[in-house]
Amino acid sequence: MIEQPLALPCGHTIKNRFIKAAMTEGLATASDHATPAHQILYKTWAQGGAAVLISGNIMVDKRYLERAGNVVTEDERAIKQLSAWAKATHEGGSELWGQISHPGRQCPRLVNTKPLSASDVQLNMISNFGKPKAATQAQLDDIIKRFANTASVLKKAGFDGVQIHSAHGYLLSQFLSPITNKREDEYGGSLENRARLLLRVIQSVRDAVGPEFPVAIKLNSSDFQKGGFSADECIQVIQWLNDAGIDLLEISGGTYEQLEFFQQSDQKVRASTQKREAYFLEYAENIKKIAKMPVMVTGGFRSLAGMERALENDQTDVIGLARPFCVNPNFPNEMMSQSLELLEEVESKLILGNGFWGPASSSKSVQALNNQCQAGWYYHQIEQLAQGKPSNAEYSPRKALLSHFRKDITRAIKRKFA
Ligand SMILES: Cc1cc2nc3c(=O)[nH]c(=O)nc-3n(C[C@H](O)[C@H](O)[C@H](O)COP(=O)(O)O)c2cc1C
Repeated sequence: MIEQPLALPCGHTIKNRFIKAAMTEGLATASDHATPAHQILYKTWAQGGAAVLISGNIMVDKRYLERAGNVVTEDERAIKQLSAWAKATHEGGSELWGQISHPGRQCPRLVNTKPLSASDVQLNMISNFGKPKAATQAQLDDIIKRFANTASVLKKAGFDGVQIHSAHGYLLSQFLSPITNKREDEYGGSLENRARLLLRVIQSVRDAVGPEFPVAIKLNSSDFQKGGFSADECIQVIQWLNDAGIDLLEISGGTYEQLEFFQQSDQKVRASTQKREAYFLEYAENIKKIAKMPVMVTGGFRSLAGMERALENDQTDVIGLARPFCVNPNFPNEMMSQSLELLEEVESKLILGNGFWGPASSSKSVQALNNQCQAGWYYHQIEQLAQGKPSNAEYSPRKALLSHFRKDITRAIKRKFA
């Protein structure tokens, strides 16, 4: 089943059910352009057999990044580099879809001390994020145009589709959440108003790329925060998305404050989730009942049997995976030929928790550092692959944390002086 093609509403068909979910690469130049490293990385991943590779965040506005090292596409200046990236992916045998994104308040101080958001609700996380300003109506009109423009440049560069990032607490997800959206204008208050920016962005992207180009969206099944965007609200938003010309709905969850996919040492994985393997599947079941477009569930898939079961039970149409691509880039081929049944479990080795901080802590700062450590470890693997080297599963998570901080600071400084 996993090797079967899937036809999308726009008329485009993808060759199998494996899609690499977005992972920020941090490989861009100090001028925010794609590099030969992107080409090597994506060709390697493409040779692994997945139908589609979704890029990491490609930002729509140079002033607001998720981190220094993001590719930014505001105009056609770096279209050659984007085309080379798409070409390398095609040579490897996959399609390349660009994830287009605005971080909103999740823009670190090193990039901008005054980020934009729905309201002025600050992200309180190891003092890394400035107090955001509430975007004006004119700024929102500009953001809508920027998403459309970025999508259209990516299409011109040879990308095969785009994905609008509306999950994980980024700007569009900040608008959806009552915790971060305190507005009293047409973009705040009721769910209809909170979803307005997202629906306008989708419309403008669709107008820019035409009816036959794949447009996907990544949406939280829930923010998993009290008072945040809820599972019921997600269902309602999907009903609106049904009429919005979406080709693929990726289901994820959480925000920077509550990252579902990174483990905390004291976090208990619910038995039902363990059994099901992929933690958003229970939400996807309800979503699949109402979604008219194909659904992709991402987060936690690790066994071929679990993936096949989710497809056969019609809980998802596509299997989204991210971290396993950093450890074994060839796993889709190996699973499709039945020579691999289970992906190597590395996550539990990356929790600093007990050994490093003392007893497991539920403190927000420790959790944030723990997340950074795990992210840093995967960034290291991405850098390895982007240099044409094999992944290095023995790499120390502590080194990864320090090296990630050092590199992030260096990149941000270089960027300021570029
Ligand atoms: C290093 C790293 C970078 C990520 N960057 C992004 C990103 O740029 N955009 C995004 O939507 N999700 C991003 N994610 C989340 C993944 O797309 C995915 O939702 C998550 O890792 C769960 O899937 P998995 O269990 O298969 O890894 C990132 C995850 C990791 C580990």
